[in-house]
Amino acid sequence: MSNKEQFIANLIKSMTLKEKIGQMIQYGRVNEDTVRIIKEGMVGSFLNCKGASYINSLQKIAVEETRLGIPLLFGDDVIHGFRTIFPIPLAESCSWDLELMRESARIAAIEANSEGINWIFAPMVDVTRDPRWGRIAEGAGEDHYLGKLVAKARVKGFQTIKEDGKPISASCPKHFIGYGAAIGGRDYNSCDISENYLRSYYLPPFKEAYAAGALTTMCSFNDLFSVPLSVNKKLLRNLLRDELKFKGIIVSDWQSIRETINHKVAENKKEAAYKALIATCDIDMHSGIYRDCLEELINENPELEKLIDEGVERILSVKYDLGLFDNPYVDENKASHVILSGSHRDHARKMASKSIVLLENKDNLLPLSDKKQKIALIGPFAGDKENHLGCWSWKGNKDDIIAIDEALRNNLKYTEIYIEQGCDFVNNDNNGINQAVKLAAECDIIILALGEPRSYSGEAHNRVNLNLPGLQEQLIAEIVKLHKPTIALISSGRPLILTDIKDKMDAILWTWHLGVEAGNAIYEVLFGINNPSGKLTVSLPKHVGQIPIYYNHKATGRPYAQKYVDCDDNPLYPFGYGLSYTNYTYENLKLKQDEINIDEELSFSIDVTNNGNITGEEVIQVYFNDHFGSTTTAVKQLCGFKKVEIKPHETVTVEFTIDTKEFGLYNENNQFVIEPGTFTLYVGTNSNDCLEAEFKIINK
Ligand code: NOJ
Repeated sequence: MSNKEQFIANLIKSMTLKEKIGQMIQYGRVNEDTVRIIKEGMVGSFLNCKGASYINSLQKIAVEETRLGIPLLFGDDVIHGFRTIFPIPLAESCSWDLELMRESARIAAIEANSEGINWIFAPMVDVTRDPRWGRIAEGAGEDHYLGKLVAKARVKGFQTIKEDGKPISASCPKHFIGYGAAIGGRDYNSCDISENYLRSYYLPPFKEAYAAGALTTMCSFNDLFSVPLSVNKKLLRNLLRDELKFKGIIVSDWQSIRETINHKVAENKKEAAYKALIATCDIDMHSGIYRDCLEELINENPELEKLIDEGVERILSVKYDLGLFDNPYVDENKASHVILSGSHRDHARKMASKSIVLLENKDNLLPLSDKKQKIALIGPFAGDKENHLGCWSWKGNKDDIIAIDEALRNNLKYTEIYIEQGCDFVNNDNNGINQAVKLAAECDIIILALGEPRSYSGEAHNRVNLNLPGLQEQLIAEIVKLHKPTIALISSGRPLILTDIKDKMDAILWTWHLGVEAGNAIYEVLFGINNPSGKLTVSLPKHVGQIPIYYNHKATGRPYAQKYVDCDDNPLYPFGYGLSYTNYTYENLKLKQDEINIDEELSFSIDVTNNGNITGEEVIQVYFNDHFGSTTTAVKQLCGFKKVEIKPHETVTVEFTIDTKEFGLYNENNQFVIEPGTFTLYVGTNSNDCLEAEFKIINK
């Protein structure tokens, strides 16, 4: 036994049943009774507590005034920054820059920890193919390969090792599992995915997050295989514990153990507690079920106490790994030094700038130059601050945001900026539109700052209309009558339908909800301080009726058949798409060998030339297709990428090595296999525009 194991075993031996159950209880709200509950050892963790001194005061009670002095965990939803709000995770993923994403997570953890948080309920690693679902904002888009790398980067960032050798915080990849497949994009809804799809698409980011050392995980609200996850023995105990060997804490989602009664799989609280315990759900987040029922349950079934011991062991182990037994308190002077510090803001600016995706740029209207000219900045985002915070940014403060108008005015010397809101997101009053048109008529360039408010995405904020809400489309219709150079900035928490707008704009930048440095990042891209390099990590549909639409769909028996009579089945912009102020040529896709054994790697290179006069960063994307397999596979599947800086007129030869494991599939028995056969390799600038080469996998 290691010292740690010995320490925990001794501690468990000295705990009463009540104290053990206490470790498995988490409260989301603190009230007058809190002090008593802590003193009696009837709670092991909290969420939603605020402030270093307050959290220290609660911790002090646990450590100094309880029989065993077991420290508390304090969890929180630090989804894209704590106070320094970064772009929403979906936006960050469009940077394809894993190091930057890791840094966002690290900074978020530092700021959160300075306020006492030692457990972060992130990253959300749910793959989703449905932009109606409001939580698409929290993830890394539709692809599981990119999703797994982003999951790893974020886990590593949140769990960055401090000087004392301990992680800053425990991360909590969520929501295990299938949550992103909520039927109809309705949050909390059932999902219905086969085991093959589960293993092929939804599981990989979780596996990667656990392999990266995630100390905890959260199970999801939904049911899958007709059992809600909090009580799903097959998925928690058999898959997550036994097969994936996950040894960390499983925490339920908010009240989700109790909600199994609403799901109609538990007749009462005691049955819910029993099923959750059997499934190995260690912590009950704020449903009171473990508090109310576990003791009685164990008294009636003493043989179940060993499950309690196992759960408590996992909880104490995380507390031990975080160093809380030795160092339970946070430094109360730290927050004022780290929160919103200069370097954190610098990172927010860089991250935001790299998250922007350039979709259109007719006649190279962008980048603009700062000269004597008048710009009309029009639209609900023109002077707005709050909505750049995006969903899940409750420690964010709108006063920290640099708005677009502010950034343009601060940074431009010669250009004059005039602003009109035109319309907001909800009102139907078109007086503002007339004002805006009047202003635009007097200006040289029009920038339309459009989008959806932050309250339209995030948990329980789904949409059926993925249009620009309010009178924004009418605003566009009036503005384009002026026939002036017009740029659209689209700030949103999800893909929106731009089909009717695309051709009317001279340039379109997808600016998502970019966080505190939104305005500066947008200024930098508009004026070419930064050359945009973001690429979409979700397909942008042409029509809501196409949803779900995603690039890595399966080959069907009738690929030539039109899927709709009134629309084709291509997205408006494909996965991986994004322009730059320069352009690139891809040539000489050279395979090192066109036949590899099943246990070898595929190596190849490609020449990419920057044809323009400015430096750019290009995300070189690698996809493959398996010609024939024992089960159906994707028409194209991402299996590698590199983001490379290329100087003007420079050609770089980019080398790739890909493990054959990436070319495997789940067979009819849901076993992972690498099947010999012929494959096509695609390398290009997005999922549609690629060079191709063939290779074979053999089994010598
Ligand atoms: C519900 C959400 O689904 C989850 O993501 C979050 O961490 C918890 N509530 C706690 O706030």
